[in-house]
Amino acid sequence: MGSAYLIRLLLTGFSILQQVRSWSINVPESVTAVEGSCVAVPCWTQPHLRVTWYQYQKMNYPVVYDRFHNIVEKQFRGRTSVPGNSTAGNCTLIIKNVRMADNNLQVYVWINPDSRASQKFYDQTVTISVERKAPKLSILKQMVEGETFQANCSISHSCPSSPPSIRWTGSQILENSSLKAINEKVFKQWMYTETLHGIATYEMQNSKISCSALFHDLTTDSQEITLNILYKPVNVSLILEMESVINGDSVIVECAANCNPQPHTYSWLQRQLGQDITTINTTQSKRTFDNVTTKTSFSCIAHNDIGAGQSNWLDLDVKHAPVILSESSCHLLGEVVKCVCQVEVFPNASIHWTIDGNDTLSSSFSFVFTNKKHVIFGEISGPAQSHTNITCTATNDLGSDTKQLSVHNLSKTASLSMWLVALTIPGIALLFGCAQLIYRKYSECRLLPGSVCNTTILLRRSSLSEYVQVEQRYDSHQRAHVEDAQSSPCRTESDPEEDRLSCVYDNDFVEQMRQSRAQQHQNNTTAPQRDGEIELPEKAVECNMEDYLNG
Ligand SMILES: *[C@@H]1O[C@H](CO)[C@@H](O)[C@H](O)[C@H]1NC(C)=O
Ligand SMILES: *[C@@H]1O[C@H](CO)[C@@H](O)[C@H](O)[C@H]1NC(C)=O
Ligand SMILES: *[C@@H]1O[C@H](CO)[C@@H](O)[C@H](O)[C@H]1NC(C)=O
Ligand SMILES: *[C@@H]1O[C@H](CO)[C@@H](O)[C@H](O)[C@H]1NC(C)=O
Ligand SMILES: *[C@@H]1O[C@H](CO)[C@@H](O)[C@H](O)[C@H]1NC(C)=O
Ligand SMILES: *[C@@H]1O[C@H](CO)[C@@H](O)[C@H](O)[C@H]1NC(C)=O
Ligand SMILES: *[C@@H]1O[C@H](CO)[C@@H](O)[C@H](O)[C@H]1NC(C)=O
Repeated sequence: MGSAYLIRLLLTGFSILQQVRSWSINVPESVTAVEGSCVAVPCWTQPHLRVTWYQYQKMNYPVVYDRFHNIVEKQFRGRTSVPGNSTAGNCTLIIKNVRMADNNLQVYVWINPDSRASQKFYDQTVTISVERKAPKLSILKQMVEGETFQANCSISHSCPSSPPSIRWTGSQILENSSLKAINEKVFKQWMYTETLHGIATYEMQNSKISCSALFHDLTTDSQEITLNILYKPVNVSLILEMESVINGDSVIVECAANCNPQPHTYSWLQRQLGQDITTINTTQSKRTFDNVTTKTSFSCIAHNDIGAGQSNWLDLDVKHAPVILSESSCHLLGEVVKCVCQVEVFPNASIHWTIDGNDTLSSSFSFVFTNKKHVIFGEISGPAQSHTNITCTATNDLGSDTKQLSVHNLSKTASLSMWLVALTIPGIALLFGCAQLIYRKYSECRLLPGSVCNTTILLRRSSLSEYVQVEQRYDSHQRAHVEDAQSSPCRTESDPEEDRLSCVYDNDFVEQMRQSRAQQHQNNTTAPQRDGEIELPEKAVECNMEDYLNG
């Protein structure tokens, strides 16, 4: 086998030697390479054994490629190869990482250089010209928000087997986009193109995008493009030019919108006491509203070619004199009289009280608080004597208001508490009944697994306070009880006595329960065991349900 191959090789060699005088070589006159890329110098001849490429010089024979690397010129060593199939006659030279210094390099090939061929291979030289190429970035001139955009980055190169890679720059556009790459032949060169697809967002507006081609030891950059995204008005807001407005003033309001292109129309909406009054369209972004009063609100809608956007409602804080509201009144509670004066005012007012014409208030206690926008509450309480005329006066920079407060006497107040009592008793009775029901259902459940346990489920689920009971009263003795309950489905983990308690004290426990739930929530991470304990009622519910279904 081996010898047969050797013989064939020898015969081939012999035939090649025989053909020495008739060598014909096919090479182009010139090739164009892209800096940083590789370049192929096509070469075609008869089957041969060895190839050497030389640089053409008047003096000397610098070696560009030879299979003996040590004789190759330093600047070509490691960069040149002849990978083609020599038995087919392929003598193509490949130069990697083409440099600007390789520009105008003239090379020629010598086939079987050790043979005594007399042919002057250097008669056929190939000139390599080197070009620098930067990637070209192309993008649609205008993109509309929400529509797909496309950006192409193309780099021309001369190395079909290993095109450069492309790096994109521009954080906004790169998010959520996808890439597609193609490498295609364009005339004598190659073109590697990456296409970026994505959805245009208004955040991309004015952001810059560029791309770079990364060759082995060279990077070239495209020009930078600033994106132009068309989008409808966003972030529309009203800007009030003056800091304070007094009743009857004129105000100038500006409608500011973030959009591209700029708005062509503004719609102005005005509300008084929550009711729409007017809608006016203008082309100006500023508008004057005359004779404004309290409880006026404005909004604007900005329209551009892409769409429209509306601002939030702007409530005007119109300065005005205090107005004592009709809700203001006094109540007699036993020996104590308590009065509340509600004043609508902006800016804040002070409140004064007079009792039977006397404004030096001894042995009484008064304070002011606010819990509504532009409403203040003055409260006074003191010993109830024969007070008949209690007045409240509210004063600010813009004026004052005085009102005599009517006193609701004890009997009315008493009747109110009577009502409260009357409502509370049936409530307690109802809760008691509910506890009883739970008790009874549990008893039934114990006796008859699979009986109407779903009633219990509902009650247990809604009886939140029971969670508290479980949480608060849970101790080692109950733990055993509970584990027991998990193994035997129809046992309950809590005493019916507790249920009754929890029903009765429902309201009192709600707040405690919330706190304890919150605490529990915090503890969850550190004490997962407790978590299990709290889930208990749920587990009991599941077990009951199962029994119900099985039964
Ligand atoms: C010659 O070899 C080169 C390098 O391997 C290859 O790119 C080219 O296609 C080959 N030419 C032919 C005609 O087969
Ligand atoms: C990007 O390239 C693709 C394919 O070559 C072409 O169809 C598309 O129009 C190009 N897009 C831009 C914005 O140049
Ligand atoms: C990218 O997509 C995610 C989810 O689809 C979205 O939340 C995010 O806002 C998107 N980012 C950009 C810049 O479009
Ligand atoms: C909206 O406008 C405010 C104030 O002009 C600005 O701080 C904010 O960045 C804007 N938001 C967007 C999404 O444009
Ligand atoms: C301002 O409004 C008040 C009540 O809305 C009205 O009585 C008054 O005539 C108005 N004044 C002007 C100058 O329009
Ligand atoms: C109540 O007192 C105010 C001021 O102290 C006074 O103006 C008013 O006339 C009095 N009203 C009655 C009914 O006495
Ligand atoms: C007002 O009340 C105070 C204390 O209750 C008392 O000393 C004072 O004389 C009274 N003034 C008038 C004018 O009644």
